[in-house]
Amino acid sequence: MVGVPAIVIVGLQFGDEGKGKISYLLCRDADCVVRFQGGANAGHTVVVDGRKFKFNMLPAGSMAGATACIASGTVVDLEEVFEELEILRSAGIKSGFMISRAANIVLPIHKELDAKIEEARGGKAVGTTRRGIGPTYSDRALRTGIRIEDLLDEERLREKLEILRKMHSSGVDSLEKLLEYGRRLSPYIGDVEIFVNDLLDRGGKVVFEGAQGTLLDIDHGTYPYVTSSNTIAGAACTGCGIGPTRINEVVGVMKAYTTRVGAGVFPTEIGGELGERIREAGQEYGTTTGRPRRVGWLDIPLLRYAIRISDVSWIALTKLDVLSGLEKLKICIGYEVDGRRLELAPPSVRLLENVKPIYVELDGWGRLSEEEWRRIAERGWDSMPDEARAYVEFVEEKLGKPIKLVSIGAEVGMEVER
Ligand code: IMO
Ligand code: MG
Repeated sequence: MVGVPAIVIVGLQFGDEGKGKISYLLCRDADCVVRFQGGANAGHTVVVDGRKFKFNMLPAGSMAGATACIASGTVVDLEEVFEELEILRSAGIKSGFMISRAANIVLPIHKELDAKIEEARGGKAVGTTRRGIGPTYSDRALRTGIRIEDLLDEERLREKLEILRKMHSSGVDSLEKLLEYGRRLSPYIGDVEIFVNDLLDRGGKVVFEGAQGTLLDIDHGTYPYVTSSNTIAGAACTGCGIGPTRINEVVGVMKAYTTRVGAGVFPTEIGGELGERIREAGQEYGTTTGRPRRVGWLDIPLLRYAIRISDVSWIALTKLDVLSGLEKLKICIGYEVDGRRLELAPPSVRLLENVKPIYVELDGWGRLSEEEWRRIAERGWDSMPDEARAYVEFVEEKLGKPIKLVSIGAEVGMEVER
């Protein structure tokens, strides 16, 4: 996988597609890796040499040594940043780090509001991560947000906190605490946007590590059951000040099945014992919140939509091993709705609540031991079980984009290129 200069990684489903591992793989020859949207709602995991590293705020690709950047389109949980810098340090990783002066900060009040709004919604709750994402983006849009650079300016910070205090009746955060964060963070604060553009000019390689997934995009997802940022490939441009023509490649990451954590429509959801079995096999519990994830079959109409709006160049398919041992595997290849057939579907809740998935059934393959998978990873694509190859080839044909990488398991090294 010799990389091109500017690659955007984007989730093609409802998040948790395994973007952390793919980012690590693509960052091995990168100079810099950027988080450009979202905040500590993300949970990106990398397993290297049997050791597991979890990132919520820093890009997981920084484990490969690329300079970690947090760009202006994010909402920043400062405690997380310090904790995760410590993860890198104690793992002996010498990645540089830069955070945009223009990124907005998540305050305790935003987390409180997140929880309060969820409670107010009652049965209609979104099931947020309660990391304060929505309220922080709201304050940004209202122009009342606190930015990283404000932490270096006591007068301005005082004024802004005063406004926030009047807006939100409960406590905001102490001025002192925020100034202390500013002092600790000051060596890393910079113009990420200029740094990244200059790096690209000099022939450097940059990976833009998207968080969440296309179907959670605030505009292009299953609104209102979405996150509060744009998650599609184009968000790398707005979130990091990159001109659209700079992007060379968009890598779409998808799981071999579908999962969703939190509420919202899910046409291919699998209930009962089978759902339970896949959840256990895939260890489908939230990295950030520990919640059990809902599981379902692959949904080609929604994937086609996701691929379309991010103009995906190629696909990385993850967790194929999880489907092992199931006799039959279903794939939704279209929807029936009002007597029409849809091959590609926008994630409109109104539409998706009324569709009937059309399934095809493929043969499964037997359960393989970890040792057997390891051998497959060493020997490559041709050593995969025939039915597993047929599954991947079927999906590739339906999506019309090459699946260049198939990942089996969480560990780096457990994957095959095609
Ligand atoms: P990664 O980067 C999966 C979901 C939440 C909830 C909705 C809104 O690991 O793929 P929010 O806290 O963002 O306001 O919650 O979005 N969600 C995710 N689901 N993976 C994520 O990130 C997610 N980030 C948010 O569960 O349904
Ligand atoms: Mg997650």
